[in-house]
Amino acid sequence: MTNKKIKTALVFGTRPEAIKMCPLVKRLKENNNFEVVTIVTAQHRQMLDSVLDLFEVVPDYDLNLMKPNQDLWNLSSEILLSTKEVFNKEKPDLILVHGDTTTAGLSALSAFYSRIKIGHVEAGLRTFNKDYPFPEEINRVIVDSVSDLMFCPTDRAMENLENSGVKNGIYKTGNTVIDALLYVVENKKTSLDYINLNPSLKTILLTSHRRENFGKPLESICFAIKELVEKYEDIQVVYPLHLNPNVRNTVRPILGNIKRVRLIEPLDYAPFCNLMKQSHIILTDSGGIQEEAPALKIPVLVLRDETERPEAIKYGGVKLVGTNKDNIVKNVSLLLDNKEEYEKMSKSKNPYGDGRACEYIEKIILDYFNV
Ligand code: UD1
Ligand code: UDP
Repeated sequence: MTNKKIKTALVFGTRPEAIKMCPLVKRLKENNNFEVVTIVTAQHRQMLDSVLDLFEVVPDYDLNLMKPNQDLWNLSSEILLSTKEVFNKEKPDLILVHGDTTTAGLSALSAFYSRIKIGHVEAGLRTFNKDYPFPEEINRVIVDSVSDLMFCPTDRAMENLENSGVKNGIYKTGNTVIDALLYVVENKKTSLDYINLNPSLKTILLTSHRRENFGKPLESICFAIKELVEKYEDIQVVYPLHLNPNVRNTVRPILGNIKRVRLIEPLDYAPFCNLMKQSHIILTDSGGIQEEAPALKIPVLVLRDETERPEAIKYGGVKLVGTNKDNIVKNVSLLLDNKEEYEKMSKSKNPYGDGRACEYIEKIILDYFNV
């Protein structure tokens, strides 16, 4: 391709995709070889907008799809139909999607139907269990199976693709989440004063939002937290509640009125990074936080039985504890009571990249199009 810009459409829709794609939008926009089109499905609304504001990204197309308590069927059909129109109008040379959400799965399928080249950012993650996480594991398989370029965060992700028979288009780039995290930590100073944390208590940060944890597992997580604040007077728990009503309706009745437990609204990304840095331990079922916390040297206990991100477990900064109440209490207690155990976890390395993933992805695309 000579003298022609590579028309690249980046499609994303939820908070974590925006955090991991906005640095790439900015990077490609600075390069004259690219014509960048930003398309947001707005599978999330408020949680997406707060990230767009932070990175000062103004989408070219905002499909505005989020509905209260949306279901997978309607959201999927709407993404398929509305991206079809934009793709057919813009005719990009390449579309880039991220990760494993419904936005990623259905936008990639839509681009495949439109015979557009596809690049998958955060490719190759797998649990090899179609039910955990649901439906994300299958979204990953769909996206990778139609992709021409697969940007893998780690060796393990590359191996997953190679072992499944993929021959070409696999690259290791690190995860763009580290680019986002470093950018925010270095450039966006924020204050957490308004949360009014007690500085003499150890902060335990909790997030949980996964579909497979809805109902009993999430209840059990909440009961573990209740037991922990009764057992330890020197801890406080902060839980920024995801806006999904399935989370809020379970958590509030159990933890709504418990001493030293703070249920707060989702934080903007910059204050959230600040809060992660100040935390003693993080309990989470989030994918992104499993990647960020090791880079900040904060021990993470993952509230799931399986993870597609085993690298940080191998390095020692992350441990899988599931959702059983007693197991959560036991593992948090171990970190609170045993200094050696705590230091072992907080001294582990970050396996997810050097903060230059966007630069590597840019170079791979230029080579692919012979620019
Ligand atoms: C989605 C992704 C999940 C990802 C998570 C990140 C799918 C199937 N799930 O799950 O992989 O880990 O995002 O957070 O793609 N809501 C709002 N405002 C917002 C965001 C959500 O009100 O800004 C509420 C709405 O009622 C919405 C509901 O949350 O219908 C669920 O949103 P949805 O994107 O379907 O599922 P998540 O649980 O957010
Ligand atoms: N995050 C945030 N504010 C919050 C909670 C999380 O900005 O109140 C960030 C977090 O740092 C990470 C991303 O949101 O980068 C993770 O999103 P989420 O847990 O919703 O999705 P997942 O990563 O599990 O897909």
